Amino acid sequence: MRVLYVSSELYPLVKAGGLGDVSAALPPALRRVGVDARLFLPGLPAFREGLEDQEPVVSLGAAFGAFEVTVYRGRVPETGVPAYLLDAPELYDRPGGPYVDSEGEEWHDNPRRFALFGWAAARFADGDWRPDVIHAHDWHAGLAPAWLAAQPGWRPPSVFTVHNLAYQGLVPAQRYHELGLPGYFFSVEGLEFHNMASFMKAGLYYADQITTVSPTYAAEIQHPEQGFGLHGLLATRADDLTGILNGVDYAVWDPATDQQLPVAYSVDELAPKAEAKSALQREMGLAVAPDCPLFGVVSRLNEHKGLDLALAAIPDLVAAGAQFVILGSGDPELEAGCQRCAAAYPDEVAFFRGYDEGLAHRVFGGADSLLVPSRTEPCGLTQLYALRYGTLPLVRRVGGLADTVVDASPTALADGTATGFVFGPATVEAFREAAERAIAVYRDPGSWRPMQQRAMTRDFGWEQSAAIYRDMYQRLAPQA
Ligand code: ADP
Ligand code: GLC
Repeated sequence: MRVLYVSSELYPLVKAGGLGDVSAALPPALRRVGVDARLFLPGLPAFREGLEDQEPVVSLGAAFGAFEVTVYRGRVPETGVPAYLLDAPELYDRPGGPYVDSEGEEWHDNPRRFALFGWAAARFADGDWRPDVIHAHDWHAGLAPAWLAAQPGWRPPSVFTVHNLAYQGLVPAQRYHELGLPGYFFSVEGLEFHNMASFMKAGLYYADQITTVSPTYAAEIQHPEQGFGLHGLLATRADDLTGILNGVDYAVWDPATDQQLPVAYSVDELAPKAEAKSALQREMGLAVAPDCPLFGVVSRLNEHKGLDLALAAIPDLVAAGAQFVILGSGDPELEAGCQRCAAAYPDEVAFFRGYDEGLAHRVFGGADSLLVPSRTEPCGLTQLYALRYGTLPLVRRVGGLADTVVDASPTALADGTATGFVFGPATVEAFREAAERAIAVYRDPGSWRPMQQRAMTRDFGWEQSAAIYRDMYQRLAPQA
């Protein structure tokens, strides 16, 4: 079974969010269950520099405003996964992020950059290595299924995975021609969305199979509240839509082996976690207080992530004895809110504005509880990392958060299944109430410790999900 895994992110070379982590871990997991998964990546500088053993394999000539498009074959360091790199210097070889420039503005030529990406993926073959299935991820790769549908004759089946429906890759109608697709695709029965071309809708409309990254999100996106305007289409495709939970790469995320932590600890040797906590308090300039419940945040800061709910509750929770470490960046207003909070409570609230992998590990290790109060969350990875680190997640009951965290209800506490704290409505009150419950349980080690042990032994490894993807590929391409 040959699968071309089309993604624009790959940790640690290019990562804007969880997609980078998933693309680093799922292809090797697929290979372990017998799938010949190969990555297809845009020629961003970090990929050009970071992939090993690169050699040109296919020349595609001039396309989408690029003078010479070449596909290189290389390997991902560490995992050795084969990776194809779509080199088109005019479109990809520039500083800044994969989707935005260093000012945070979308690249003006994103329509062409990602039209080329989908077009090239859809027609790709490396000699006699031809994909049996094309697996495209998020809007960036959304045109691959459309280009496949535009091809005459036989074409490989496609899978489109939604990592986040909130980001759709919308292109104004007057720029539709830049995508190069047939005119009749720009239609309600096609990729048109409110008189714009939608890369996301292209993926959803033209792919043979749609997946998303948790079962609850797969159900939620068929309804207006979480459907971002695409719920109608998703509901009509319900038979082809499944939610497959993301996993964790425990080679990267395990406190027993994590080189970023000042100490190693595990479920059998939990005591050193206290040192990880005091080290984090020192690093972030908080009062070094072993008995204060310490809440951590590692997040993009935007409305979807719900951090405004936490910020509004912080004064009450500080008064109740809690501390906070916030690592994140994004929306200037939320950043300013975090800054104000840290200034108001210098001993209790610390804010690091930015993106820092090492600090993220130390927050997962050093905090007592991780806050993920998202309004929408397709899967969420940080709560899964937190579970393994014995840092009990406090989450909203939405998307993948609902599928992975068991609330410390009286019943769940009694039967030993609780792993965190879950609240329902996206309100400050509901958040505060859950945080107060967390503080109360924290102060009762006889309840907290067993929850940590339960959390740390939950297995969210990739093996199970990889096998589900493999079975899906086999149904789509039984001859392979
Ligand atoms: P999303 O993809 O919506 O941002 P996920 O929970 O799936 O959410 O993945 C987020 C990933 O990005 C995790 O690996 C998390 O640790 C990481 N991350 C988010 N913000 C930061 C930050 N400021 N510094 C370091 N890592 C971060
Ligand atoms: C998206 C989602 C997040 C998910 C990640 C990986 O960025 O926001 O919930 O975990 O993709 O699938």
